[in-house]
Amino acid sequence: MRPRSGTYATCTLRRVDKGARAEHASAMTDLRAREPLTLPEIAAMKGAGTKIVMVTAYDHPSARLASEAGIDLILVGDSAGNNVLGYPSTVPVTMDESAMLTAAVARATPRALVIGDMPFGSFQASDAEAVANAVRLVKAGADAVKLEGAGPMVPRVRAIVGAGIPVMGHLGLTPQSSTMLGGMKAQGRTASAASRLLADARELEEAGIFSLVLESVPARIAAHVSAALRIPTIGIGAGPGCDGQVLVWHDLLGINEGVTPRFVKRYADVAGEIRRGLEAFAAEVRSGAYPADEHVYKISGDELRAFEAELEG
Ligand code: KIV
Repeated sequence: MRPRSGTYATCTLRRVDKGARAEHASAMTDLRAREPLTLPEIAAMKGAGTKIVMVTAYDHPSARLASEAGIDLILVGDSAGNNVLGYPSTVPVTMDESAMLTAAVARATPRALVIGDMPFGSFQASDAEAVANAVRLVKAGADAVKLEGAGPMVPRVRAIVGAGIPVMGHLGLTPQSSTMLGGMKAQGRTASAASRLLADARELEEAGIFSLVLESVPARIAAHVSAALRIPTIGIGAGPGCDGQVLVWHDLLGINEGVTPRFVKRYADVAGEIRRGLEAFAAEVRSGAYPADEHVYKISGDELRAFEAELEG
């Protein structure tokens, strides 16, 4: 965990007035020059109506770019499983993998808050195991951890927060338990499921989470949940009523080219750029156009002649 000027213990939610909102907006103008974000600042963004921006990242250069772009929160998601490790889902991701990716990201982010995702199996068994694994992610460089679910996971949240580690919750579609949820589909679409979602969110807030991811939830329900909580919600497929938004790096930048969920918007065509670059490189190597004169190191004529004489003699 990197040192920050505010501490979790002092994190209080504030409703700020218009003056404070203007002050906050001007403070956001030069994001790159700023100190690392603190939890009280993130909490204050909800009161100020300033949307929180989160992306996933799994490596050092991506995290550096995200931080320089003024992204507020970087989640080293277990979506690394599908996006960089070649697994069919997030379930096989291990603590070793999570810790290694978290460390790479944390080394690159002066401002953004880094959240390490607790992989499946790293927190379900007991409070003690959950705390030990959260500590591992913090030692790797995470400022906070995220874990999926409520109900039996609420004591885990309490235990981790009690150990001094900030926790982000995750409700709605929780991919680690998608089999139990009947597949990768939207959640909270009946009145009773929406009520359950709200009750779970309140219970997690009570247990001490500092923010909550709402994934694949009807927009109207996510807006109600967001309004009911003091902590900020971060939506993914949960509509504009959330206090912030998150997208997966490979989805938003167009590195994933296949079918994506309806909530994904592509802001770049990185896969196309990479493909164009690789095809141009291959074509130039094959034609001899690369390397050209400007890409090679030179040796003086005298030294070269001496070397060639030595070869001959
Ligand atoms: O692992 C992940 O990328 C996530 C986001 C979808 C919130 O949990």
